[in-house]
Amino acid sequence: MSQKSHTHAQWSSRVAFLLAAVGSSVGLGNIWKFPYMTGESGGGAFVLVYLICIALIGLPILMSEWMLGRLGQKNPMSTMQQISGRLKRSPAWALVGLAGILGAYLILSFYSVIGGWALAYVKYAVTNTFGGLDNDSVGGLFGGLLESPTALLGWHSVFMIMTVGVVIGGVAGGLERAAKTLMPALGILLLVMVLYAATTPGFAEGASYLLMPDLSKLTGETVLAALGHAFFTLSLGMGIMMAYGSYLSDDVNIGRTAVVVAVMDTVIALMAGLAIFPIVFSNGLDAAAGPGLIFQTLPLAFGQMSGGWFFGILFFVLLVFAAWTSSISLLEPIVEWLEEKSPLSRTGATIAAGLATWALGIATVLSFNLWSGVHPLGVFAMFEGKTIFDLLDYLTSKIMLPLTGLATIIFVGWYMQRDELRTQLNMSSGAFSVWYAISRFITPIGVAAVFIFGLLH
Ligand code: PFF
Ligand code: NA
Repeated sequence: MSQKSHTHAQWSSRVAFLLAAVGSSVGLGNIWKFPYMTGESGGGAFVLVYLICIALIGLPILMSEWMLGRLGQKNPMSTMQQISGRLKRSPAWALVGLAGILGAYLILSFYSVIGGWALAYVKYAVTNTFGGLDNDSVGGLFGGLLESPTALLGWHSVFMIMTVGVVIGGVAGGLERAAKTLMPALGILLLVMVLYAATTPGFAEGASYLLMPDLSKLTGETVLAALGHAFFTLSLGMGIMMAYGSYLSDDVNIGRTAVVVAVMDTVIALMAGLAIFPIVFSNGLDAAAGPGLIFQTLPLAFGQMSGGWFFGILFFVLLVFAAWTSSISLLEPIVEWLEEKSPLSRTGATIAAGLATWALGIATVLSFNLWSGVHPLGVFAMFEGKTIFDLLDYLTSKIMLPLTGLATIIFVGWYMQRDELRTQLNMSSGAFSVWYAISRFITPIGVAAVFIFGLLH
């Protein structure tokens, strides 16, 4: 069994662990990013590849991260250091943990800006801005927000303060308990939106756009986008799930729990897509509108449906909440690292990490207005026309997450002892053999192939 030199309190119940994991995974990735990426990539073919990536790549890596965390009982860097040391492997494996911390920092910097958009839309919803919107004015509302650096900066600041506040207050547990009610509420509200979408003339078209793959639309780039999004949406490749695994008690069945989390995350994303694309087609909007997609479609629906004022407020409040639980999970590893590596106290480290992330977020804020013409790596064909926000997104989802995920699965599949894995996963021998074969061959080869083809596209 593992050496638990630094054992911390274990979750009082499996439910608490599950809530933290679902709280981290369900967020803007499901409701904001998944629909707009699907729209930019041409629909069902992207969704199909994404689902395959979740099952054959995301799921085994999620299990691996939890298992490593439970064995190491430490922060991701020290966990990788300790387990690789025990297996007489290079200490360089700790870099996987370090890359994760850097990834969390980069992602949180723009995640908070988008969380700020959701906050702005809570305000619009409360002040009944959605009533009577049409195609042009819904675009104008969103465009007006993006155009204003001060408005974006203000909302980004509020969102960052909310995130830092929870981490300083040490009340993340309270927030996770709130998730117990609010996550199901989000699910129900999405269902209401899907039912509303079903009454619109574009429902059949929207649903088939999402669910009927047109394989001719597949390119190396879309496949890489789907892979990267599978990591992003399950919070993989950043050591976050590894950190959570260190709180897992030995009797929790990792495989079953991972399936529950992956299924919930996927269902929320698909429901968001089913709610949004019918509105796109019913109103003749552009599916490939990009990051503004949900902000330019859902307000139209809220403006038209009965009870739309109420549902609009509820929806954006729940979206903020889902984003908040994810952003807290992104801030925590940065804080822990800073606390360990600097003389700062926990509070000092939280404020410093929050400030540093907030400062980098300003670059994303400006990407949508004053710096929208700034394309730092534009001389390279693959980065042509990419703003700083685009680059941060590309660097994290399409490069860093797949690489750290690949390292994690190679470490688990090839360096760890089969018996130890078997004991940890506690599966029947048949199921274990399938998992082991997938983790050793399919997952790493899949990630490597998609990564290389995607970059070369
Ligand atoms: N999984 C979150 C989402 O889908 O919104 C985003 C996220 C959280 C990504 C935590 C990465 C992470 F470590
Ligand atoms: Na997610």
